[in-house]
Amino acid sequence: MTSAKRLAILTSGGDCPGLNAVIRAVVSHATLSYNWQVLGIPYATQGLLDGQAMPLSMHGLDLRGIDPLLSMGGTILGTINKGDTLARADEVLANYQALGLEALIGVGGDGSLAILNQLAVQGNWQFIAIPKTIDNDVALTERSIGFDTAVNTIVDAINRLTFTASSHDRVMVVEVMGRTAGHLALQAGIASGADVILIPELPYSVKDICAHLAELRDRWKRRFAIVVVAEGIHPTGDYSQGASETRPSCSMGQYIANEIMACSAYPVDVRVSVLGHIQRGGIPSALDRLLAASFGKAAVDLVAQGQSGQMVSWQNGTVVPVAIADVLAHSPFLVDPHSSLIQTARALGTYIGSL
Ligand code: F6P
Repeated sequence: MTSAKRLAILTSGGDCPGLNAVIRAVVSHATLSYNWQVLGIPYATQGLLDGQAMPLSMHGLDLRGIDPLLSMGGTILGTINKGDTLARADEVLANYQALGLEALIGVGGDGSLAILNQLAVQGNWQFIAIPKTIDNDVALTERSIGFDTAVNTIVDAINRLTFTASSHDRVMVVEVMGRTAGHLALQAGIASGADVILIPELPYSVKDICAHLAELRDRWKRRFAIVVVAEGIHPTGDYSQGASETRPSCSMGQYIANEIMACSAYPVDVRVSVLGHIQRGGIPSALDRLLAASFGKAAVDLVAQGQSGQMVSWQNGTVVPVAIADVLAHSPFLVDPHSSLIQTARALGTYIGSL
């Protein structure tokens, strides 16, 4: 065993399922394999600004001996996705030293990792990153913690909406999260058999959407349809003109619903569901737990090896370290309009727009 070390962990940015599972993995491996002391920083960098840290013990067992961390959504450490940390970097660096921290594992998306990495460089911290985001837009990793659960949550919601849509012969528009990336819409849309998928990476035309819906109705006798809309699509639909900065005051799902009603050659009964933060909640999927366990273990090992400035990444079914600087240079990671998933969606009859 190596000498005791004070390792800190924080979760930063929007929460997602799997954060507690990764905290559990880090604490277990650091304690069992290295006998280190692990401290949790509450509310990400806000905790460092406030000079706060709490000891984390290996098993947060409940009264019946169950470890709730594996299956609990959210983060027991709390998190923030805004703040003026960099403007107050001196205070953060001073508090980090005062707490006697020797290494930091930061769990976050690309925005959080950029801030944490800058602080780590300034403070000469030993820093390892773990990617998490339901948007799956962190570059150089095929998966981030939280994405798989969110996809499953959306698929479950669309399954439910499909039955009510079919009962009432309705077009059901489902808006999903993802910021500037369409991974959630694309993967959940394919997995739930959506008829239309609109993503920020591919231009679309409302005329073509309506023609597709008419074909479903006239040729295939389909009396309902499911339209998945990523929150980050551009209102113009014509992305060659550059993204319009004028966003409608309503949700993009409602906007597309209005456009379909205005453009359709026949009367359509349209309803809109904005899934919102439901996509961030819930019990982590088995895949997200596997990712959390693998990432947590690998991050602790990187600390033990004296590495810094690295992010653990999932590539070809295994965990590999990549330089955080490279990750940030290539983020956000967007959907490749020529990817096989796009071709698969089209081959199965989904309207998804085109370049
Ligand atoms: O980045 C994760 C995410 O859930 C995005 O998909 C979404 O646009 C955003 O966070 C919502 O942020 P907030 O929780 O601040 O509303």
